[in-house]
Amino acid sequence: MRVSIAGIGSYVPEKILTNFDLEKIVETSDEWITTRSGIKERHIAADNQATSDLSLIAAQRALKSACLKPKDIGAIIVATATPDMLFPSTACLVQTRIGAPRVIAFDVSAGCTGFLYGLAIAESFVNNGYDNILVIGADILSKITDYTDRTTCVLFGDGAGAALIKKSDGEDGILSSYFTADGSSWNLLWQPGGGSRIPATHESVEKRLHYVKMQGNEVFKVAVRAMSEAAVKTLEKAKIPASEVALLIPHQANIRIIEASAKRLNIPMEKVLVNIDRHGNTSAASIPIALDQAIQEGRVHKGDLILMIAFGAGFTWGGVLFRY
Ligand code: ACO
Repeated sequence: MRVSIAGIGSYVPEKILTNFDLEKIVETSDEWITTRSGIKERHIAADNQATSDLSLIAAQRALKSACLKPKDIGAIIVATATPDMLFPSTACLVQTRIGAPRVIAFDVSAGCTGFLYGLAIAESFVNNGYDNILVIGADILSKITDYTDRTTCVLFGDGAGAALIKKSDGEDGILSSYFTADGSSWNLLWQPGGGSRIPATHESVEKRLHYVKMQGNEVFKVAVRAMSEAAVKTLEKAKIPASEVALLIPHQANIRIIEASAKRLNIPMEKVLVNIDRHGNTSAASIPIALDQAIQEGRVHKGDLILMIAFGAGFTWGGVLFRY
């Protein structure tokens, strides 16, 4: 059965943190951040905003764009690395607040690839008789970012994006997908404290273990290879050449990773959605935010082939090819 993206919505918090603001916080420069990452500014959640708050707004916008009501929702999946709390799931919080009682609700932990993992799960739900699956990618990385660590704090932004996945009655829908993971380098990108390995204690907090740690240059090398592999394998499964892709939507982690991936695929940058300059790396939210932007700006047309690829903590990576 063909499964399509029937609606999309996104939300980013109002507050903007620019590179110039960061220059006042850590020893960095707009020039370094721009040339090394492509980021100029990012949105940052307010103190009283949690991931379910951002998710709820994005989800309501996705419902509206799909012309559906909360009672129509068949399941809720939230991909996030920054849930409101370790349990219950952020999806359950969204479920009660959006008004979709008694539907399946759970979170997916797959780092920046989480939204695409969520799409694949939604696709199999639809193939098993469920419909109107709400898939949300949402993260507030600023709340687990160490603003004394210049190697990570310049990279992340906050946001949420949501998609409504349903049975397709036309030619549109998901054509192929590819997913994998490699946990052998799990500690190149991680949040050491706060889980069952290192529970939160005064000592763990003093050692700043509840913040994101990343060996950026090591992650960078894997990311370029993995993003390209995700694209190639996804296209191969659909037997479609890269030249037929109308728009490539890569996870927005670094402009150099995006450019290297596009180059390996021989896809010109005009066909690549880039918004990292305004959003930074919003983790699981980056792809649905970018997809929503592409649709709002009229960059995709009925029948276009769209390829989404992502890479994130785990490591996890994968791709989804769909016809709009
Ligand atoms: N400002 C100024 N200098 C800095 C900064 C900064 N903000 N950060 C690091 N530097 C310095 C370093 O200390 C180093 O100095 P040294 O040579 O004197 O030791 C120098 O700049 C180069 O550092 P590198 O880490 O080698 O810089 P690189 O070119 O690799 O860029 C970056 C760093 C932007 C982090 C890049 O490696 C990257 O984007 N990595 C991948 C990130 C990613 O894809 N993450 C996966 C998804 S994220 C998720 O799942 C949540």
